[in-house]
Amino acid sequence: MADRVRLGVIGCGMIGSFHAQVVQDVSSIELVAVCDIVPEKAQAIADKYGVAAYSAIADLLAHPGLDAVSVCTPSGMHADHGLLAARAGKHVLVEKPMDVWVEKIDELAAACKAQGVILGGIFQNRFPRAVQQVKKAIDDGWLGEIVFANGSCLWLRLQAYYDSGDWRGTWALDGGVLSNQAIHTIDRLLWLVGMQPDVQSAYCPTLARDMEAEDLGVALLRFPNGAAGIIQGTTLANPGLTTAVTVCGTKGSVIIEDNRVVYFHADGAPEGLVEVEQQGAGGASADPSAIWGGAHAANIEEFGRAILEGREPWVNAGEARKAVQLLNDIYRAAGVGPYAKATA
Ligand SMILES: NC(=O)c1ccc[n+]([C@@H]2O[C@H](COP(=O)([O-])OP(=O)(O)OC[C@H]3O[C@@H](n4cnc5c(N)ncnc54)[C@H](O)[C@@H]3O)[C@@H](O)[C@H]2O)c1
Repeated sequence: MADRVRLGVIGCGMIGSFHAQVVQDVSSIELVAVCDIVPEKAQAIADKYGVAAYSAIADLLAHPGLDAVSVCTPSGMHADHGLLAARAGKHVLVEKPMDVWVEKIDELAAACKAQGVILGGIFQNRFPRAVQQVKKAIDDGWLGEIVFANGSCLWLRLQAYYDSGDWRGTWALDGGVLSNQAIHTIDRLLWLVGMQPDVQSAYCPTLARDMEAEDLGVALLRFPNGAAGIIQGTTLANPGLTTAVTVCGTKGSVIIEDNRVVYFHADGAPEGLVEVEQQGAGGASADPSAIWGGAHAANIEEFGRAILEGREPWVNAGEARKAVQLLNDIYRAAGVGPYAKATA
């Protein structure tokens, strides 16, 4: 392997274009090719960065010297496209969610293991410095025993957003607000708390948008230590509010809004243990093209380093599947999508 991973991007839509741009600032990775079934989309990015364009994944995978791919196609295609790459011996980076269904993630992970290639996911909102400080403070016990965690993603997506791609809001390829928008918040909550909960009850209706999956999702969680959690997500919150994760423990509490830690208290904690920042810009609350967080480069850099060093990336399959496991448990508890009861 060269001193940089030679990457091909599969899917040149909103996030695929962003990967191609961000990789320009990633020292462990070099963009060499892009692919989209719409040839003009691939060509436009290829022209911009001076790389090869393909309209079939098989042709991209045959690009000379290609080491890895970044899968940026619709969510329900992620595992299938990752499998094609793994079977061609390429390392695989997959946008969030790694797939909509946990069984497909497990199939992809098993194939990558069998092929000896590295599988990584994107959860860029684990990477900002203050958020990492919170994770360390929780792991070091500063919040004491966790008793409550709340994750909310109260955004706005208009009908035009769902109409902008025939995969959006479908059960086969996307899911609704919990799988597409709130998955970042679900992941952050689970990662910080470090426990996988049971779903006590869930409500996932489609209230206002013309789409199959939920535009509102609320779930009550119970963690193995008895702590409670709540997940709230909607794409109907006019005009688009923040995301927030609140974690309360017996010795302290933290509130993270978007990527800012707006409140942190831990009994006896040293000054500056966590950087608290009350002011800041909003995120992707009402603008689908505003990629939340600005930490993609760090996530992709770390994936590239993992390949070069021959180790698991931080966001490996085991990490990426946790939010999807909870997502599927929520859908099951709510009786929606593949878990909907047949009506007579
Ligand atoms: N991490 C984040 O913050 C973030 C932000 C936005 C989107 N995403 C994720 O990225 C994925 C894509 O979202 P998007 O908004 O870019 O969608 P999009 O519809 O804009 O782009 C998807 C692209 O995939 C292409 N495509 C479909 N099938 C293909 C195939 N077989 N081969 C090659 N290309 C194919 C489409 O032509 C399209 O250009 C989703 O899973 C979404 O959840 C992540």
